[in-house]
Formats: sequence, C-alpha cells, structure tokens
Amino acid sequence: MTLAELEKAKAESLAEIAAAADAAAVEALRVRYIGRNGSIPALIKAMKDVPKEERPAFGKAVQAWRAEVEAALASKGGGAAAEKPVDADLTLPGRWFALGAKHPLSRVIEETARIFGHLGFTVADGPELENRFNNFTALNTPPHHPSMDRSDTFWFGDDTLLRTQTSPVQIRTMMENKPPIRVICPGRTYRRDTTDATHSANFHQIEGLYVDTKPVSLADLKSVLAYFAHEMMGDGVTVRFRPHFFPFTEPSVEVDFSCHLCKGKGCRVCKESGWIEVAGAGMVDPRVFGHVGYDPEKVSGYAFGFGVERIAMIKYGIPDIRWLYENDVRFLSQLA
Ligand code: DAH
Repeated sequence: MTLAELEKAKAESLAEIAAAADAAAVEALRVRYIGRNGSIPALIKAMKDVPKEERPAFGKAVQAWRAEVEAALASKGGGAAAEKPVDADLTLPGRWFALGAKHPLSRVIEETARIFGHLGFTVADGPELENRFNNFTALNTPPHHPSMDRSDTFWFGDDTLLRTQTSPVQIRTMMENKPPIRVICPGRTYRRDTTDATHSANFHQIEGLYVDTKPVSLADLKSVLAYFAHEMMGDGVTVRFRPHFFPFTEPSVEVDFSCHLCKGKGCRVCKESGWIEVAGAGMVDPRVFGHVGYDPEKVSGYAFGFGVERIAMIKYGIPDIRWLYENDVRFLSQLA
C-alpha cells in the first residue's frame, strides 16, 4: 500500500464509521479496522516490507489512521466507550472481608530467624519423627535418663519417637556439615505432658548452635543472647545465666530475660522476681562432638534452646498456652 492508497482507505473507513446506523454496525467496523485481525494491525505487521526510507512517514500515517478510527468509533459510542456501565449502586459501602494475620507462634519464629540472620545464622530443619541416637544418645543422654521413659516420650517401637526437643537437629547439622556452623532450628516438639495453662503435649522450640575451629566462649553466647533479648523484647531487656544441667552442654545454664513489663522491678508476670526463664543453653559437651565425628580438641561451640510458646506468652501477655491452639478469632484478632 502506498501513502496515497492509505489516505484513501482512511477516508473510506471514516466515512463508513460516520454512516454506521447502529451499535452492531459500529462494532463490526471496529473489528474490521482495529480488531486483532483488522486491517490496521495487519498494516503494522507488514511494515517490514515497506522500503526503509518510506517507513517513518508510513508508520506515522498508520498511527494517525488508527487514532482517527478510534476517535470516530468513540464518537459513535463504540470502542472503549461501548463498555456497559456497571450495574450496581456505586454509592454503597464496599464489602468487608477479613485479612488474616500471622499466628503469634509464627511471628516469634520468623522474628527469631530475622534477628539471628543478622548475626550470620541460617535456618536448619529436621524431622519430627526422630531416632533414639539423634534425640538422646548423641546428645549424651544416659540410657536410663527419665526423659527416655515411655511415660514421658511418644515412642513408636524401640528406636523411633516424636522428638522431645529440637536438639537432634544439632546432631543432623553437625553430621552433614563442617565447622564453622551457625544455625537456628525452629520446630515442633512432643512430650507426654498433660495439657494445662502452661503445658502442652505438642509445643515448639528454637534450637541454636554455633561451632567453630576458633575458640568459642560462654561470653560469646551471652552477648548473642543479650542482643536477641533486646531485639525480641525491647529496649533495656537483659539476660542472666543461672547454673543448670543438661547432658549435652558443659557448663550448662538456664537463661532468664529481665522482665520487659516491670523492667526488672517485680510484677505478676515475673512472679515478683524481675526475671523470666526462657531457654536452656551452654557450651557443647565434648562427648557430643565425639558422637558426630568432630575432634573435641579442635572445635568448640555453644548451643541454646528456647520455648517458642514461652516467648510468645510473655511478649504478647498471653496467660494460657491453650489459647495458642484453639484458633479462636476472638483471641487471634487481638494480636493482628
Ligand atoms: N533441649 C533442652 C530442652 O528441651 C533445651 C536446651 C538446653 C537446648 C540447653 C540446648 C541447650 O541447645 O544447650 O529442655
């Protein structure tokens, strides 16, 4: 098509649109000229066959044609203007629908991963169905330890159990990796507890493990947990260690946060002590390194384990652990 022919075709198309008698005729012309297989899109596709020198002028003419056809269709009530008005009362208020919120346990887990992420920790995962070696033996738990009893642990046969702690993920991580290791391991844990306001047979923990070939000390552990306390609970919250015993750490400590509500002065939540117990921790016992094939002379490290429910309950002031599992929106929506 030459430019002259194009101008002629354009004039014809505009005359046809002007003469269209009804909406159906306008629509038919829209399809003929600017529909997907219409003549104007076909011209644009055929542009590559136009001699190079003529292409800019030709292109301009085609675009102008298209614009004029669109304007002509619109003036006849066709094209975009033909869309039907919405058949609704636009003055009515919108329909309300609830946007869900993160569950407090998920929030604590994600926030912990974020805080430890800043310190170079990644997240490791392990199965809830564990074996005796990972959950007990490699963690230096003596064979007759009460936690192994059938009345305390959900056993499936002699070797398989629902993990009672997230500590077996320490074992899995060390067996699969070489130091330095920096991981946190959040997850579900199970114990044969009767459920009451502060106990549940199914709960959550977040394990932490740092192992390096450089010497690692209890002071490193304390500084990391102090940073975590401050980030998780707010300004002014500090940590204290109390001596304790765990089979897989030596020395072992229990970790308290200073009460974020009364700032350590003593209140109902901290039972007037100014402190709230949140975790167990310590320096990884050399025997644990032996079980995973590390040389205890060459590596050292610390480990810790938090109760997720415990942190959620003190952070959000939740008095009963069962509220976390009942899925009652009257409770959940207060934390949204
Ligand atoms: N696994 C312990 C428990 O469930 C918590 C714990 C204590 C984890 C000391 C640790 C640790 O990693 O070092 O009671």
